[in-house]
Amino acid sequence: MQTEARFWAIVPAAGAGTRMGSDIPKQYLTLGDRTVVEHTLDTLLSCERLAGVILVLSPADQRWTGIQQRYTQQALETVNGGAERCDSVLNGLKHLAARAGDDDWVLVHDAARPCVRPEDIEHLMNTLQGSGEGGLLGVPVADTMKRVDDELNISDTVDREGLWHAYTPQMFRIGALRAALQQAVDNGHPVTDEANAMELAGYRPRMVQGARDNIKITLPSDLPLAAFYLQSRQSS
Ligand code: C5P
Repeated sequence: MQTEARFWAIVPAAGAGTRMGSDIPKQYLTLGDRTVVEHTLDTLLSCERLAGVILVLSPADQRWTGIQQRYTQQALETVNGGAERCDSVLNGLKHLAARAGDDDWVLVHDAARPCVRPEDIEHLMNTLQGSGEGGLLGVPVADTMKRVDDELNISDTVDREGLWHAYTPQMFRIGALRAALQQAVDNGHPVTDEANAMELAGYRPRMVQGARDNIKITLPSDLPLAAFYLQSRQSS
C-alpha cells in the first residue's frame, strides 16, 4: 500500500549575512519582539501539514543555544550547514533521509524571510502536490529592468515579460532535490536556489505567485520594512 507523501521543511540559517554590515548574522537580528529566525520558524511550525522542520546552523553558531529552549516541544531539529547555501541545504536533506521518504516533499525556506505568510505556504503545497516536478513562490518583476556594465552604464533594457523574482519556500521531492543539488555541487556549480539545481538536472519547476512582502533580509533597510509588514498584519 502506498502511503501519502508527507511535507517537511528545511530552513538554511548558516550564512554570515555580510551585506548587512552587522556583526550579528541577519537571522539573529531583532525584529519586534523576536529574532528574524524565530519569526520564520514560528510561521513554519504553525503549518500543521509540516511533519517536521530542520534548521541548518553554522558550526560556529553561538546564538541558537540562547533561543532553542523556546522550541523544545516542537518538531524541530538542527543540523550543521556548509560553506555555501547549497551545501547547507544538502546537509539538511541528508539528515532528513533517516526519517523521510524520497517521494516526500521538502519546502526549503530561507531563515532570512520572516514575513512569509502561512496561507502562501498552504497555497504552494496545494498547487504543487499533484505535480511531479515541484516549484517555488515568486512574484512577477514590476520595474523596468536594465543591464549595466562595470561603470554602471546601461547596455540594454531587458524585456520584463515573463521575468519573476524567485522567493522561498521552494518545494521539491526530497530524493530528486538531493540528487540535483549533489550533482550541482559535484560539478562545481554553487547554485543559489534549489530551483536552479533542479533546472540543471532537467526539471521544469513551476512558479507559484505569492505575496510581494515575503522579502529576504539582505540590507539594513530591509529590517524596518519587514517590521512594518509584520506589524501591519497584526493590526489588520
Ligand atoms: O546569503 P543569502 O541571503 O543568499 O542567504 C539565504 C539563506 O541561506 C539565509 O537564511 C542564510 O542564513 C542561508 N545560508 C546558509 N548557509 C550558507 C549561506 C547562506 O544556510 N553557507
